[in-house]
Amino acid sequence: MTDTTPSPPVSDWATDYDIFDPEYINNPFPIWDELREKCPIAHTDRWGGSWLPTRYEDVTEMARNILDFPSGNGISVVPPPAGVGDPDGPPPLLANGVPPISADPPLHTWTRRLVLPTMSPARVAEYEIYTRDLCRTLVDGFIARGEVDAAAEYAQQIPVRVIAHILGVPESMSSTFTEWVRDVLEFANDPERRMRGITGILQYLTGALDERIANPTDDFISELLQSEHDGQPIERSVVMGMCALLLIAGIDTTWSSIGSSMWHLATHPDDRRRLLAADKDLWSTAIEELLRAYAPVTMARRLSHDVEFNGCPMKAGDRILMNFPAANRDPEQFPDPDKVILDRENNRHVAFGAGIHRCAGSNLARMELRVAIEEFITRIPDFELKDPALVTWAGGQVRGPRNVPVVF
Ligand code: HEM
Repeated sequence: MTDTTPSPPVSDWATDYDIFDPEYINNPFPIWDELREKCPIAHTDRWGGSWLPTRYEDVTEMARNILDFPSGNGISVVPPPAGVGDPDGPPPLLANGVPPISADPPLHTWTRRLVLPTMSPARVAEYEIYTRDLCRTLVDGFIARGEVDAAAEYAQQIPVRVIAHILGVPESMSSTFTEWVRDVLEFANDPERRMRGITGILQYLTGALDERIANPTDDFISELLQSEHDGQPIERSVVMGMCALLLIAGIDTTWSSIGSSMWHLATHPDDRRRLLAADKDLWSTAIEELLRAYAPVTMARRLSHDVEFNGCPMKAGDRILMNFPAANRDPEQFPDPDKVILDRENNRHVAFGAGIHRCAGSNLARMELRVAIEEFITRIPDFELKDPALVTWAGGQVRGPRNVPVVF
C-alpha cells in the first residue's frame, strides 16, 4: 500500500477526493460509480487541486482535445517536489520533459516517431523470446516451494528486465530501477522519495549516455544518440527524457497489469481453467478484458487557459486527471463493467489512453502480459490466494497489487 503522508479522511468524494486515500487505492470502483451518478467530473483542492472525470465519453473527449487539454504543462497527478527547478517545470537535465508523453506537437510528433520502431510487432516478437525465457526461469525458482508472491516475486520482476534488455542497461540494476520508478509514480506525494527517484534515474542515464557516446553499441540509447531530427543530432536532454520515459512508462504500468491479472486468476478459478483450454482468439480477447478491467494508469493534463467543460469552470493552471481506469468501468460503454468477461466482444477500452498520446508500448505490454500469464498457468494450473488479507495495493498515478501471495 502506498506510504501516504497522513491527510484528513475524505468526507465527500465529489468535492474533496484524494487519490492517495487508502479506500481509493484499495477499491476505487464504488467511488467512481457514485461519482458517475452524482457528479461525473469531481473536484478536489488536495494535492494542488484537480478535476477527476469518471465517464468514458468525457475522458476520451478530453484525451483527444489536445488544444484545451495539453500535455506540455505537466502530466503528473501531483505538483513536482520543491527544488525540481521551477515549481512546475522539469529539472534542467530534463529541459525538454520526457517526450513524447509530456510534449505537445511538434516535439511530440517526431519524438513519438523515434520510439515507435522499437515497439513494432516485429521487434516485440524478438523480445518475446527473452521474456518467455525470463518467465520460465522465474517459475523454476519458486515452483518447488508451493507458494510465491505472484506480484512481488513474479509480476514485478518481468517488465523491468525486459525494458533493461531493450534499453541496453544491466539487469543487475533491476531492483534499483524498480525502486526509483516506484518513488516517482507511487510515492509522488512524498517529495523526498520522489526526488530520490528522479535524481537516481537522471544520474544513471547521464553515465549511460556518456558511455554510449564513447563506445556506441546497438541498443536503444545508442540508436537515439545516432538519430537526427531536421538534419541535426538530437539534443542530449531530449535523449535523456525519452530514455527516462521508457524506464518510467514501461515498468510500474506493466507490472501492475500482470499483478492484477494474477490476482484475478487466483480468485476466479473458472477464468483460469477457461484460459488454460483457450485458443488464440480467446487469449486475445481475454488480455484486452484484463487490461480494461484493471487499467492501471491515470495521467494528468494541465490547462493553459480557462475551459468550460460540461458545465465545469476549469481555470488555467488546473490539473485534470485522465481517469482511464474509471472510463473503462463506465456502464454506458461496457455492459456489466465490473464483470470480467474473457470473450467480451465490443471492448474499445482506454487502458492505453486515447488520441495522440495513446501508449507507444502497447504491443510490448500486451506481449508481456500474455507471456507472463501463459508461463505461470501452464506450469502452475491450480493456485489460490494464501490469505486475502495479505494482498496489498498501491496507487497514485499507477494502481496495482504489490503483494499477492498464492499457494499451489
Ligand atoms: C499495461 C501496461 C501499460 C499501460 C496500461 C500503459 C498506459 C499508457 C497510457 C494510458 C498512456 C497515455 C498517457 C497520456 O495520455 O498521457 C501511455 C503512453 C505511453 N506509454 Fe504506455 N502503458 C503501458 C506499458 C508501456 C510500455 C511497456 C512502454 C514502453 C516501454 C510504454 C511506453 C509509453 C510511451 C512512450 C507513451 C507515450 C506516448 C505518446 O505520448 O505519444 N507503455 N501508456
